[in-house]
Amino acid sequence: MRKKKILCVVGARPNFMKIAPIIRALNSQQTALEPYLVHTGQHYGADMKTSFFDQLNIPEPDVDLNVGSASHAIQTAEIMKRFEPVLDKNDYDAVLVVGDVNSTIACGLVAVKKNIPLIHVEAGLRCYDKTMPEEINRVLTDQISDLLFTTERSARDNLVKEGIKESAIHFVGNVMVDTLFANVERAVSYKQTLTNVSNEVANQINEGEYSVLTLHRPATVDHPDLLKQTLQTIVQVSERTPVVFPVHPRTAKQIEIHGLSDLLNSGNIISMPALGYLEILGLMKSAKFVMTDSGGLQEETTALGVPCLTLRPSTERPITVTEGTNTIVDIDPVQILSGVDDILLSGGKSGRIPEYWDGHAAERIITILDQWIP
Ligand code: UD1
Repeated sequence: MRKKKILCVVGARPNFMKIAPIIRALNSQQTALEPYLVHTGQHYGADMKTSFFDQLNIPEPDVDLNVGSASHAIQTAEIMKRFEPVLDKNDYDAVLVVGDVNSTIACGLVAVKKNIPLIHVEAGLRCYDKTMPEEINRVLTDQISDLLFTTERSARDNLVKEGIKESAIHFVGNVMVDTLFANVERAVSYKQTLTNVSNEVANQINEGEYSVLTLHRPATVDHPDLLKQTLQTIVQVSERTPVVFPVHPRTAKQIEIHGLSDLLNSGNIISMPALGYLEILGLMKSAKFVMTDSGGLQEETTALGVPCLTLRPSTERPITVTEGTNTIVDIDPVQILSGVDDILLSGGKSGRIPEYWDGHAAERIITILDQWIP
């Protein structure tokens, strides 16, 4: 009997840790399924793509669409244009997309218009803020998906409210946490990462006595006044405890354009280019706390039990707040500094690991998929 061909899609950095355990489970479990991989090329280069493929043992993609960076409209359109012939040339039985980036909706839309079943991993997360491009990608991808896998129970309620039929929704846990547990012992030590900046820096910073910052949301970094105000607040944080700051390329560009580099050199901020997965994991693991606007880091800190301050007005991952270590502080200087003081005084939230965030989400997905694909 011919194996069923599943085309898995990745495009941007947060997709890579989600797809890795799915491909591994597809290859290692006894199933009637055969994985193929397309990379749209939304993220590219050593920092944003190659190091993740290498560290997470993701096989080279069968197809690379090489779209690169552009405006939302151009990037989404270009992915769609280049993805359509890939589906025309092959008889895939299903397309599987993860997360909420432009590649997710672009490839999903092309697949369903060709009547190819669409599977969405990480469905149903909502922050109800449509100024966030990812929220639009989430809502639309869920509407056109045939099978939806969720990471937390609240996601089912969100989907049902939007008219998705219950039988299509499966709560399986979090594939990103599969990757975290599979790699946490291999993480590069924070000392090693800091040594790559300088020996002097590495010698000054001790385990559990620093924080980690990541920042890349357009809502903050694309507005010079907000970016400046946030960096000024971070300088104040760094005067209480050192801040290690791997800088996303979007943010680096904005800091440069708006002449804010001096802020990075004041206080006790240790900045560096965006890091590989094993490096950021090692940094988070040994940190006192993390400040971030990333969805992934909110979940990873909950899985690691490290306090997290989320520099956004809301989260689409509420379980990280209700059960995990996350506190929403927005980019409000007063809330950020009081959140930091609270952690430094009392240790911050310790939380617990949410249901099914146990390292086996991908296996659950494959078991369901195996029975589902026609
Ligand atoms: C994208 C995702 C976001 C995800 C983030 C993780 C969307 C709408 N956004 O945002 O959900 O959290 O990735 O990184 O899909 N750039 C590079 N090298 C790269 C990629 C980007 O230098 O490999 C620079 C380019 O100048 C580009 C900018 O970063 O203009 C933004 O890249 P883009 O993919 O458009 O969005 P992200 O902000 O990375």
